[in-house]
Amino acid sequence: MGKGVSKAIDNIKNVIGPAIQGKDPTDQAAIDKVMIDLDGTSDKSKLGANAILAISIAVCRAGAAAKKAPLYKHLGDLAGNTEMLLPMPCFNVINGGVHSGNYLAPQEFMIVPVGASSFKEAMQMGSETYHHLKKLIQAKYGLKAANVGDEGGFSPPLSTFEDALDLLVSAIKDAGYTDKIKIGIDPASSEFFKNGMYDLNFKDPDRAGKELLSAEELAGLYTKFAQKYPIVFFEDPYEEESFSEFTKFTASVDCQVVGDDLLCTNPTRIKRAIKEKSCTTLLLKVNQIGSITESIEAVRLAKEAKWRILASHRSGETEDTFLADITVGLACGQLKSGALARSERLAKYNQLLRIEEELGAKSTFAGQQSRLV
Ligand code: PGA
Ligand code: ZN
Repeated sequence: MGKGVSKAIDNIKNVIGPAIQGKDPTDQAAIDKVMIDLDGTSDKSKLGANAILAISIAVCRAGAAAKKAPLYKHLGDLAGNTEMLLPMPCFNVINGGVHSGNYLAPQEFMIVPVGASSFKEAMQMGSETYHHLKKLIQAKYGLKAANVGDEGGFSPPLSTFEDALDLLVSAIKDAGYTDKIKIGIDPASSEFFKNGMYDLNFKDPDRAGKELLSAEELAGLYTKFAQKYPIVFFEDPYEEESFSEFTKFTASVDCQVVGDDLLCTNPTRIKRAIKEKSCTTLLLKVNQIGSITESIEAVRLAKEAKWRILASHRSGETEDTFLADITVGLACGQLKSGALARSERLAKYNQLLRIEEELGAKSTFAGQQSRLV
């Protein structure tokens, strides 16, 4: 239906492959540059990010193999980073927005085990809370309500932010982790923004378009939530072109403000947001920018501005685990890879458990140094 990858594969076989054949796979920057130059567009639309990123990642793996180094270590070398940092995981346990079949407008409600002292412990705390949440949802909304959305979070028939936040607070309490697990929200506001207004009922055919909110009204809601609930970050609180609204909000709240659609992992947009103080955290999605070298550059820029880095999967995700290694190698410190369900989500968390085990005493867990704590 027009969304296949046969064109990307053709480009890999016939254009990119011949151009990089025989090159040294440890020279990631040189190979990425060959592909970027071959493409020649600012958004990689000629060869496609699908083709370029696939090769960029394959080259990275080949480079690690040639050096006989673990992938995360090789990525650390490429970025000039020696600290192998296990991230604070942010588990997306309630799915709404365009990721689910309920009427809930905000897209992601995450639990963040800030009280954990290792990645392994964070996994256990997240998992226990996820299962308590399942019980609560089934008791309140019935068995069917515990079906999961695109990122493995539950997708019960909720309609407001408060419905979701109250459920999370109860699940965290039932699991015995009050104060040790906090909450992150990604409303993905561009999805419910139309003609200058926000529609929190956009998915409900009976209520859509009837109670629209201005950016200021939305800010009022967010501020109220930040006071009432243990929220540690807001991602994309406004639609993606609202740099100045982001700036006002960032100055007014005491938690992290994450730029995803706002930044698109794009150095030009990141530089603007740094200058305008629009957010304090880069959401790193390697397939938004399309190569490993440019992802390293995006992280470098963000770190230079003293921002946090939240590495991220995509809702349409593969079983590949590269995300786990890049999160550790670039010392991102925070990661979102969905709920503790669906193997394309768990694959990354499992790889991180393996890395933590392999590094042993040499690993550091971001928990103790993350602003989220
Ligand atoms: P996407 O969602 O992969 O569908 O863009 C993830 C997010 O918004 O963070
Ligand atoms: Zn997002």
